[in-house]
Amino acid sequence: MDAFDVPTQPIDGQKAGTSGLRRQTRDFMAPHFLENYVQAILNAIGGAHGKRFVVGGDGRYFNDRAIQVILRMAAANGAAEVIVGQNGILSTPAASHLIRLNKTDGGFVLSASHNPGGIDADFGLKFNMANGGPATEQVTDAIYQQASTIANYRMLEAQDIDLTQIGDSMLGDMRVRVIDPVDDYAALMETLFDFDAISGLFRSGFRMAFDAMHAVTGPYAHRLLEERLGAAQGTVLNGTPSPDFAGGHPDPNPIWAHELMGIMTGPDAPDFGAASDGDGDRNMIVGRGAYVTPSDSLALIAAHAHVAPGYKAGLSGVARSMPTSGAVDRVAAAKGLDCFETPTGWKFFGALLDAGKVNLCGEESAGTGSDHVREKDGLWAVLMWLNIIAATGKSVGDLLADHWQTYGRNYYSRHDYEAVDSQVASTLMADLSAKLADLPGSAFAGLKVTEADEFAYTDPVDHSTTTGQGIRIMFDGGARVVFRLSGTGTQGATLRVYLERLETDASRLHMQADDALAAVIAAADEIAGIRARTGRDAPDVRT
Ligand code: G1P
Ligand code: ZN
Repeated sequence: MDAFDVPTQPIDGQKAGTSGLRRQTRDFMAPHFLENYVQAILNAIGGAHGKRFVVGGDGRYFNDRAIQVILRMAAANGAAEVIVGQNGILSTPAASHLIRLNKTDGGFVLSASHNPGGIDADFGLKFNMANGGPATEQVTDAIYQQASTIANYRMLEAQDIDLTQIGDSMLGDMRVRVIDPVDDYAALMETLFDFDAISGLFRSGFRMAFDAMHAVTGPYAHRLLEERLGAAQGTVLNGTPSPDFAGGHPDPNPIWAHELMGIMTGPDAPDFGAASDGDGDRNMIVGRGAYVTPSDSLALIAAHAHVAPGYKAGLSGVARSMPTSGAVDRVAAAKGLDCFETPTGWKFFGALLDAGKVNLCGEESAGTGSDHVREKDGLWAVLMWLNIIAATGKSVGDLLADHWQTYGRNYYSRHDYEAVDSQVASTLMADLSAKLADLPGSAFAGLKVTEADEFAYTDPVDHSTTTGQGIRIMFDGGARVVFRLSGTGTQGATLRVYLERLETDASRLHMQADDALAAVIAAADEIAGIRARTGRDAPDVRT
């Protein structure tokens, strides 16, 4: 088997967004696109010679082909070993765990997360580093640099590796280990949670529905929930990964997980419902008739995590992304924990987790996780909730009500305007940014602005700085609106408007979020002129 150089040219825009490189699948399949980016990654990390990597993805269309290319290129670049999930399957948190467990030099995670899959949908590739976490900004900048100047990539002429069979084989001088994608991850979960207590809950008749949304967590959920913990067969819905997620949009929120929401609000609703996304790092938690916002889930976990064996010593600190609600801050303040506010994207939690400054973090976009891996982890959040329910004996609805009673409620909603003209979106943001200094003191929809800024972050561990991370406008009385452009979309721009208001009056803790937030929503539109500029009457998605 011969390795050889293939001449190539830089391809425009191979720049990672919030989470790796995401593009339409056909772009990824175009000549040299994937190869250029893989070689750029290998160059940026100082070559592959003698290195070991993990490779796997969420099973979406082109996952299998892309893995064969990555294997050949890793071998051609002199890698010593690659560990691959059987059939190319690895959830993002499982990939993160395998990198750490096997002390590899990093890993390639193939996914466009919650974006739809298929030849006419989206694909993505992300490089994770030896700590198991997404490449830091410095590394993604170096990858972009390499991709912008690339002149050739290295390839091996070889047959496909059979990924259906567990076992070792050689690709040139490189060992390929095909492993069960679930075993090691399931073993890790068992060290963190009280499996006896959770099994006891199921034995006592507790019922659950888990919607894997035809995506990667199906095999993990079948194994953990049904086989290991004894939940009834049929607990896991849509549990077979499909290359196009059966035509669905594998994003676990009340809009896209409407099948599960229907079950949980129906007449014979089970006690507990949950869902996860395309690559298994996001989660949705819902009780009987009680949807839990990701921000509230993070806060509630912060308040109760010590009931789980892996966290019985208490938390070292917590972190949330800036647009995430301040609910977790209130728990941290009450418990005397450090609380960090980071830019959007899991990569910013890595340094805090590595330094032991925090062991719980989360984002409003349905991401929650801890220091057990360096990614957010959907099933981890589900098991944590099950452990809390088993330990407290309370329902989801009661846990939430008690939480709000103790800490107050941060009413929260995110409004997304999708596929907005990129020019319109960037002008809207630029105009907002230009008037920030004038906003304090003015009132919009009856709310007085107290502070307004553009979020920037200096990492407390490595002191790197990141600017332009979204516009924050704070109002009198603890309300806030944040404007930000998405960094994961593949068409036009997505404007995200994050709306929040703190309520501590015990008689006003059970309103509909949009009613409770009516003034904040009106103020956001007045300040940014969203309707006038985009011509949209309403957001495309509210979560
Ligand atoms: C979105 C979420 C962000 C998350 C990312 C990857 O990024 O908002 O919290 O980390 O997906 O799952 P965005 O599209 O907003 O840049
Ligand atoms: Zn995801």
